[in-house]
Amino acid sequence: MAVSSRGHFSSRLGFILAAAGSAVGLGNIWGFPTQAASNGGALFLIIYLLMVFLLAYPMLVAELTVGRYGQSNPIRSLKSVWPNGKAGAIAVGVAGMVVVSLILSFYAIVAGWLVGSFAGSGLELVGASDAVSWLTGFSTPRNLILMVVFMLMTMYVVQSGVTDGIEKWSSRLMPILFVLFVLLIGYIFTQPGAMEGLKMYLVPDFDHFSAEVVVSAMGQAFFSLSLGVCAMMVYGSYLNKEANLPKTAAQVACVDTGVAFIAGLLILPAMFVAKHNGVEIFSDSGELLSSDTLVFQVLPAMFHSMGTIGELISVLFFAVMLIAALTSSISMLEVPVAVAIEELNQSRKLAVSWIGAIIMVISGIIVFNFGDLFGLVIKLTTVYAQPIIGLFITLIAGWVWHRNQVLKELKQGYPEIEQGLFWKIWPTYVRVVCPILMVMVFFFS
Ligand code: TRP
Repeated sequence: MAVSSRGHFSSRLGFILAAAGSAVGLGNIWGFPTQAASNGGALFLIIYLLMVFLLAYPMLVAELTVGRYGQSNPIRSLKSVWPNGKAGAIAVGVAGMVVVSLILSFYAIVAGWLVGSFAGSGLELVGASDAVSWLTGFSTPRNLILMVVFMLMTMYVVQSGVTDGIEKWSSRLMPILFVLFVLLIGYIFTQPGAMEGLKMYLVPDFDHFSAEVVVSAMGQAFFSLSLGVCAMMVYGSYLNKEANLPKTAAQVACVDTGVAFIAGLLILPAMFVAKHNGVEIFSDSGELLSSDTLVFQVLPAMFHSMGTIGELISVLFFAVMLIAALTSSISMLEVPVAVAIEELNQSRKLAVSWIGAIIMVISGIIVFNFGDLFGLVIKLTTVYAQPIIGLFITLIAGWVWHRNQVLKELKQGYPEIEQGLFWKIWPTYVRVVCPILMVMVFFFS
């Protein structure tokens, strides 16, 4: 297939918004604040920041660079940097593609709940309470239907292509997300109890320090930057040769971390506002009661206790969550779709239809066996598969790919790279430090 027929990002800002859109998701707005609340507030924040810049950022550069060099789907890009290891490159590419599809199959279920809560808080305003309880109550039909609705939205964006779908929608939605966020925080800060949450978030509690906290922060950083399953590699392959990769990756990492930080400014104060309003959130020993119900029960209960304005705020809040989820899910679906388009010579529409259908079936199987499968799939994909594949990608970029070729690729868009600090540190860093840090994740978890 000719290179010119591939999609591409039309501008650097478009790429940054799309890649940041992939990175900013439920991991930032839900995962990060919940983990911070249960792991010593600012203590977790500090460790997380270290993990992002010491581990995730260098790996993000590695994934983007492999992708842009290959200008192709992950399987072909990996083959191009590892010409003698075709079987290995195929194995890593296929594994990434399968795992990211499984991640999407649970992500779509959670995102479906967001669709329900979003529509539910809208309907609450007009008093349609039967519909609201169906949309927000846990049931198999509701989980299934809302998951399908969210998958159809994801498929719609991806089938429109890289420029007209992914880039266009990310560039539209991400600014809306930022504005809504600021509005929400402005409101929450005026509520009684908010300052207590702010204090918990910004004053570190060192008693919570443990190896486990470090491991959780590492996993969180990894998930948040969409690493280890070739999603960033695919986005990198749509990037032109004028982009300065270390700088672009730094911008994406900063936006992602910034949004996680801001989400903490919203969620932790909101938790204490909820507490102030009589919603139970901490056990007697001071532990967060149930982190997984935070977003779908504690916060809605708080919104509810605020009356009509609360319902409005609730609509905004779930709009933010839904936008974040959608710009992430499109980056997941794009991985298998890019492979099918190029390896099977299919049209984008055809590829999106059958791959989307398969993912909906897998997702449906999880919905019908929720108790057994939901947690299991999350654990297998994010705790094990994602870091393991990430480790292989790092090893390929660090040890297999010829250093001169890496330099040549990075020099495009950053001609003076050899004079800078980045090139003095990064190559050795990706070879040695990243793999060691990652092996530690497994060792401790
Ligand atoms: N990073 C996103 C979040 O924080 C989720 C995500 C998007 C992702 N693409 C991914 C996670 C690929 C793992 C792999 O929610």
